[in-house]
Amino acid sequence: MASIHRNAATFDDIEVLRPRLAKSYVELLEAQPGRPLAMFAPRRVGKTYFLDHDLAPAARHAKWLSVYADLWLQKSAPLDAINHALEEALDDVSVPRSGLGRLAKTPVKKIGALGASLDIGEAPARRALPAAAELRLDALVARLAAASGKRVLLMLDEIQALGDVAEGDKIIATLRAVLHKRREILSAVLTGSSQENMTRMLSTAGAPMYQFAQLLNFPVLGDEFLQQLADHFARVHPRKTLALADLRRTFVRIGFKPRLMRDLVKSISAEGLTDIDAGVSRFLLDERQLAGWNALLQPHDLFERAVLVTIAQGRPPMGRETLAALARLPSPRPTVAKVRAAIERLRRAGLVAKGASSGTTIDDPLFAEYLRGLSIETLT
Ligand SMILES: Nc1ncnc2c1ncn2[C@@H]1O[C@H](COP(=O)(O)OP(=O)(O)OP(=O)(O)O)[C@@H](O)[C@H]1O
Ligand SMILES: [Mg+2]
Repeated sequence: MASIHRNAATFDDIEVLRPRLAKSYVELLEAQPGRPLAMFAPRRVGKTYFLDHDLAPAARHAKWLSVYADLWLQKSAPLDAINHALEEALDDVSVPRSGLGRLAKTPVKKIGALGASLDIGEAPARRALPAAAELRLDALVARLAAASGKRVLLMLDEIQALGDVAEGDKIIATLRAVLHKRREILSAVLTGSSQENMTRMLSTAGAPMYQFAQLLNFPVLGDEFLQQLADHFARVHPRKTLALADLRRTFVRIGFKPRLMRDLVKSISAEGLTDIDAGVSRFLLDERQLAGWNALLQPHDLFERAVLVTIAQGRPPMGRETLAALARLPSPRPTVAKVRAAIERLRRAGLVAKGASSGTTIDDPLFAEYLRGLSIETLT
């Protein structure tokens, strides 16, 4: 997919824009009224960045009005989060941000002789929005489209958060109904970091998921990003080069996370080194990094941590050998049911993912590398 890039002034300015990819998403939406796109990819690979820097501009270009809601931020009330985002958008459309704009929109009834008493008309009144969140969503979409004269593109980020609330299924059903009813004026893109979660969730709303949403594999960044890193490195260190092949290998190793990749290159650049593998090894031992991983492990008890390490080491977590190893821990006797429950808790915490073919794996490959270096016996 073509992308745009220019010479970056610093490593932090390096970015990859993907307008063609974004345009293709808009076209997919146009071709299938009422059917959302669901794009999923692992954490930190650039989903939100894409919504913000590529998809929103593409929507603007198509004369759509995009509205972004992060469902993770208000995990306990996701539908309210969506409605709130729509309300804000509606405010922006109907009441311009500056105080002057607000006045100017309200017809002035009478101006005093010296202009002293400025008697403004009543603020534009409308029937109150329905209180029930489901109806409110429908009404807000209709109002926003009417007020702006544009199709509304709802960008729902971290949709997998719906999997963790009691009424998640109901919210999906509501979204589905509103998307269908308002298909002339509403499109939606859903993103999430767990395909398994998303598939399970979206299929519970009555029909198979693929009938509801079109599932897309969000493409990770590639050479266009790595080449910019190498180019900038060469500008900073005229006599040194970073081999693209090394960058590619490392990018795979760290799970295609652009910010992490940039930080790694920055750190070896600061020391004038070109051995990126050594850079990654050092990163794995960095105190701040270790503290970060420890913080991830903190909420989990010894048993769950042991299960996590087992998974990282590629051993079947419910196998006999594993159970025997777990039995040596100073915690209650392990059973398959307990292991299963532990995996479920680790999954909810976002530490492991269940792939369609690969079984349960650690979501973050670098974290997995760290965990592989631990052993069950020495866990505390
Ligand atoms: N196209 C890009 N060009 C340059 N940097 C990028 C790009 N996409 C992402 N990044 C960098 O990677 C970081 C993480 O991206 P982003 O937050 O979009 O990931 P995400 O997939 O939404 O993660 P999460 O699953 O945690 O929500 C960004 O803050 C940015 O620094
Ligand atoms: Mg994100």
